[in-house]
Amino acid sequence: MPLPRDFLWGTATSAYQIEGAADADGKGASVWDALCRVDNAIADGSSGERACDHCARVAEDVELLRALGVDAYRFSISWPRVLPEGAGAPNEAGLDFYDALVDRLLGAGVRPFLTLFHWDYPLALYRRGGWLHPDSPKWFADYATLLTERLSDRVADWMTHNEPQCFVGLGHRDGRHAPGMRFSTPDVLRVGHNALLAHGHAVRAIRAGAKRTPNIGWATVAHVKYPASERAEDVDAAREAQFGPNDEDWVWSIGWFADPIHLGRYPEFALRRLAGDMPPIAPGDMETINAPIDFIGLNIYSGTPYRRAADGRPAPVQRPPGYAHTPMDWPVAPETLRWGPTFATERYRVPAYITENGMANPDWVMSDARVHDPQRIDFLERYLAQLEAAADDGVDVRGYFLWSLLDNFEWAEGYKKRFGLVHVDFETFERTP
Ligand code: GCO
Repeated sequence: MPLPRDFLWGTATSAYQIEGAADADGKGASVWDALCRVDNAIADGSSGERACDHCARVAEDVELLRALGVDAYRFSISWPRVLPEGAGAPNEAGLDFYDALVDRLLGAGVRPFLTLFHWDYPLALYRRGGWLHPDSPKWFADYATLLTERLSDRVADWMTHNEPQCFVGLGHRDGRHAPGMRFSTPDVLRVGHNALLAHGHAVRAIRAGAKRTPNIGWATVAHVKYPASERAEDVDAAREAQFGPNDEDWVWSIGWFADPIHLGRYPEFALRRLAGDMPPIAPGDMETINAPIDFIGLNIYSGTPYRRAADGRPAPVQRPPGYAHTPMDWPVAPETLRWGPTFATERYRVPAYITENGMANPDWVMSDARVHDPQRIDFLERYLAQLEAAADDGVDVRGYFLWSLLDNFEWAEGYKKRFGLVHVDFETFERTP
């Protein structure tokens, strides 16, 4: 089977990484605005204050999408732009911005895929306790309700969280992402549990309020464990390893979030290894978290080959010295686009979208005034061939969103890594496709 006829081709961005206008028109501060003011938090000392100046150049950016010919565009809402205090009174100017963005996209024939939370948590809520606060799931559900009321007459495709592994793990355990905390394991797990509850409550809120039948999912970090060979024993070994901890680090597991969301229970390894540190799980919590959803979004950037070792256990296979890798030091591993959706749809029994995939490239405007990115072209050819192989195997994968439309603020890396299909000059904001 080739990719289905109605397969969606798209690109993705997120609010803090492109919007700029950090304190314009009534927007509240986010934890990322705050982290960027901390010495040495960002590799190049930058911030998302201007980012790609997208708010001012939204017409031009939608025109770029139209010219690219994409079917769909994945973007996120800045929670503090629409709710400056995170809860309570909405900011009309912020809502108007997204309202107009959606209209522009539809006018350009581009289907909007909306992510509620791509890490720019309202600073005001963080100061009240953030994701540790028992009301934090409700705050998120109220935010979801507000956007459903405002946009669901035109938006059908919704994602709750983007990569909870990152804002929970990098943000609340490792201190490298906002809010820059280094919590103990029990508190990290509590943050994770509240984020899961927030997801479940938001799913219900969207479903209850949506004016058009919604298509609801979320996007997970998907470090893919793929078989080192086509042999059945290696395929089984990779499958067995896929949903457990990554390199022994449970924070990077797909299963930590995906098992509760799609199966209604924490994974075995969490219950076994982290039992003493788990937060209390109230009656009804797992049902809430397991509210029925329509798809799983996979953000695939990296992977590890696995084989069945002599002792019967799945074992990672070492890459040879000098293996192909991108400027993020991530290996070029096209097989991840075949096995990621294969394993995820088998286990969770919902369709998959590749909600992010792509690579940073050392792009610059060359002497012919153009930006040539042969590595990215080759990367895409290889990866998309493997996605086709998944479809050939009958895997239900419905869309592909390239990260990213524009070069943008790459979190703690600042502007040092360029993921965009469109080059951005961060002094003039000139775009070069
Ligand atoms: C991610 C992120 C993006 C990153 C991209 C490249 O969800 O990790 O969604 O914001 O920019 O992954 O690292």
